[in-house]
Amino acid sequence: MPVYSISHVENVRVCVVMVGLPARGKSLIAQKIVRYLSWLSINSKCFNVGSYRRQIVSDTQVTAELFDPSNEEGMKYRQEAVNAATVDMMKWFLEENGVVGILDATNSTRERRDRILKLCRENLIEPMFLESFCSDQDLILQNILDVKTTSPDYANRDNDFATNDFLQRIKYYEEVYETMDENTDSDLTFIKLINVNSQIILNRIESYLESRIVYYVMNLHIKPRSIWLSRHGESEFNLTGQIGGDANLSERGWRYAKKLPELVLKSLGEENKHTNLTVWTSTLKRTQQTASFLPYKKKLQWKALDELDAGECDGMTYEQIEQEFPEDFKARDDDKYEYRYKGGESYRDIVIRLEPIIMELERQENILIITHQAVLRCLYAYFMNVPQEESPWMSIPLHTLIKLEPRAYLTLVSRIKADIPAVSTYKEKGTSQLGELMNGDSISKSRDLIKDSEGRVILENK
Ligand code: ATP
Ligand code: F6P
Repeated sequence: MPVYSISHVENVRVCVVMVGLPARGKSLIAQKIVRYLSWLSINSKCFNVGSYRRQIVSDTQVTAELFDPSNEEGMKYRQEAVNAATVDMMKWFLEENGVVGILDATNSTRERRDRILKLCRENLIEPMFLESFCSDQDLILQNILDVKTTSPDYANRDNDFATNDFLQRIKYYEEVYETMDENTDSDLTFIKLINVNSQIILNRIESYLESRIVYYVMNLHIKPRSIWLSRHGESEFNLTGQIGGDANLSERGWRYAKKLPELVLKSLGEENKHTNLTVWTSTLKRTQQTASFLPYKKKLQWKALDELDAGECDGMTYEQIEQEFPEDFKARDDDKYEYRYKGGESYRDIVIRLEPIIMELERQENILIITHQAVLRCLYAYFMNVPQEESPWMSIPLHTLIKLEPRAYLTLVSRIKADIPAVSTYKEKGTSQLGELMNGDSISKSRDLIKDSEGRVILENK
């Protein structure tokens, strides 16, 4: 039986209209929503009006004056940019079966919002406004330094010029900005985040899809933190090439478990060595044994982190599956994301059961997760935006600790190898053979290519 995503159940299309002054985190929130919904297989896309404006207005013209509401030419260009983005978004809804489109702009006046509202209604798309309101001046200045001084708007300009010009841009917007409120906007569907999430106003949230988006953004925070991911140490089943099961660690697997605390400390660095981590494992013995030498008090077991259930194939080797169930073996290679083992699970099923884990991860700070090959691929895919046709084929070797450091618009990845040999559990498409014994020193198929909100490609690989 196919598994439908929530958008199929309701047949609703939503246009999320971002609202707020510059440097309030709108683009970041918009991109995270797109990443989250895409991971859940909901067709979502962000339309950033700034990028359209940059195609219309040449770099040299982009100073704060462009945003002066009394600058008629500037207003004309900006209206052109929002029109172009809106037209593309509507086309995408209608021609590419878009489900959640995000119009990422300041949309700071009621007049602008009314126009978008009208267009959405004409096209039977549910408009949902998402405002980020922030009055914390220190945070705003920090945001400018973090992301605005390196924006393409300020290519070849120094930091002081960029900061002052951006502050002036905000002042111009403030002259006309109309925040959303429960009285004037009582008929509209909106979420208003006040000072990140210290206060949240919700108005007329109706569909299930809208409530998922609301729940997700309510859980976001911007405190710096890291997430560590590791597979369990090599298990006795790994040695024999069997999948699934609940085997103990092998001798080398125990060595990895003993070395893991040292790897974590190394990744924390001297100045953060006392940082307290929370450890999450699955309910299977091999992850708990791997966590057993970690000095952290808080260790939680999650059933949702258990390995992909191989159903009738549990305990078999890939070679045995190829011989006994050749059609299934081929079907899985043909579409590994969707293929569901008889009496077991598919990768899509794992993503669905991991959703509460992702939500909790967004809420938490420093977490170390010890889990399994397929589950780790799905978690990694969420953070690194890996498309679903690629994620089941990523190579994530044993005996390697992965550290993720979410930053505005990108996630830094570092991999710390234990230098303890382990078998490879990686099966290429079209064969039942596993790779060679390895030292855990490659992760070749993971994607390191990430784009920021303005389309700049950032290649990170520490
Ligand atoms: P612009 O209108 O110029 O495009 P923007 O509102 O889209 O600005 P972003 O570029 O997304 O702003 O700003 C990213 C910065 O905002 C990051 O440093 C991030 O930590 C911070 N941030 C994220 N969420 C929030 C929030 N809810 N309130 C304030 N700042 C936030
Ligand atoms: O072989 C180790 C293992 O964790 C199995 O228990 C699981 O079925 C498999 O990896 C998932 O990887 P793939 O989806 O590539 O078969």
